[in-house]
Amino acid sequence: MTVSDPAALPGFAALRGRHYFTDQEYTREELLGLLDLAAALKALYRRRVRTPFLADRTLAMIFEHPSTRTRISFEAGMTELGGHAQYLRPGEIHLGGHETVADTARVISRLVDAIMARTAYHATLAELVAHATVPVINGLTDDYDHPVQTMTDAFTIYEHLGTVQGLTCAFVGKCADAMGTSVAMTMSRLGSSMVMAAPPEEQMTPEVEALVRANGAQSGASLTLTDDAVTAVKDADVVFTVGWWWMQPEDEKNELRRILRPYQVNEELWAHTKPGAKFMHCLPAIRGEEMTDAILDAPFSIVLDEAENRKHFQKALLLALIGIAELPADPELQPIARALLT
Ligand code: CP
Repeated sequence: MTVSDPAALPGFAALRGRHYFTDQEYTREELLGLLDLAAALKALYRRRVRTPFLADRTLAMIFEHPSTRTRISFEAGMTELGGHAQYLRPGEIHLGGHETVADTARVISRLVDAIMARTAYHATLAELVAHATVPVINGLTDDYDHPVQTMTDAFTIYEHLGTVQGLTCAFVGKCADAMGTSVAMTMSRLGSSMVMAAPPEEQMTPEVEALVRANGAQSGASLTLTDDAVTAVKDADVVFTVGWWWMQPEDEKNELRRILRPYQVNEELWAHTKPGAKFMHCLPAIRGEEMTDAILDAPFSIVLDEAENRKHFQKALLLALIGIAELPADPELQPIARALLT
């Protein structure tokens, strides 16, 4: 990565029109290029340079579940790129009800330039991807992965630790969650090793394990599965966790609390980390459950940078997938535009 130097950006024309279903369809070089583009866009944003690359373009945002970060970061990102984002709240459009998912995908594709969808099931997103003729971006599938979040996490790690390769990342707690799956897939693809600490019933699936090991065979990253949180964090550069539940009934929450309590990230566990380790959480956090306030609010917690960076990474992704037609007049924007057109 070259960090924010637009003149050094790789070409992105090969990404134009593609879906972002998972990040496993992207090469390591393509993913690193997107991180470079995010850094360049963030540097322009910091200097308040206007970046209307996507003037008159529209993103449809389909949500089957509520969202704070995903909704606001995509919408603000499209505004900053000169375009518009439509928020389609849960239950607001026909999606597999009065109309098949395939028909919805075909129709929306005639009306907008890209679709971002948060769906309960990965299979619903797969159907959108199969039938849409504009790029579809995965905004979290509850039962599988959250690749815009975890590429954002990689971008945030790069900002704080200077690399996304050769690191050791620990995921502690609910490793079977979409975030556990997604962090392991993304970081192993980029070249960082993963240690996943969970009770057996909350460990990653054999299917995900096979994918992560295949990524590691290409990138040199290792994967360790353990039921011991101390083992996981002691050599970690980054410690991740995720909310232990979302909309489960109380009895299920109580059972999750019982089995996951030894995996709470608290001061006692943090005492086993090495100096300089960072804490990450995609949020929303359930304070006092998967981590204590002292960890979430600590100087080594980078969760707010992680939340802000959603917008910068997603702007890079939107630009690469939607693309631009011509060089803008503003010379400040031309290096990025050349990369998009190359
Ligand atoms: N991290 C994340 O996706 O947050 P939201 O559910 O608020 O979008």
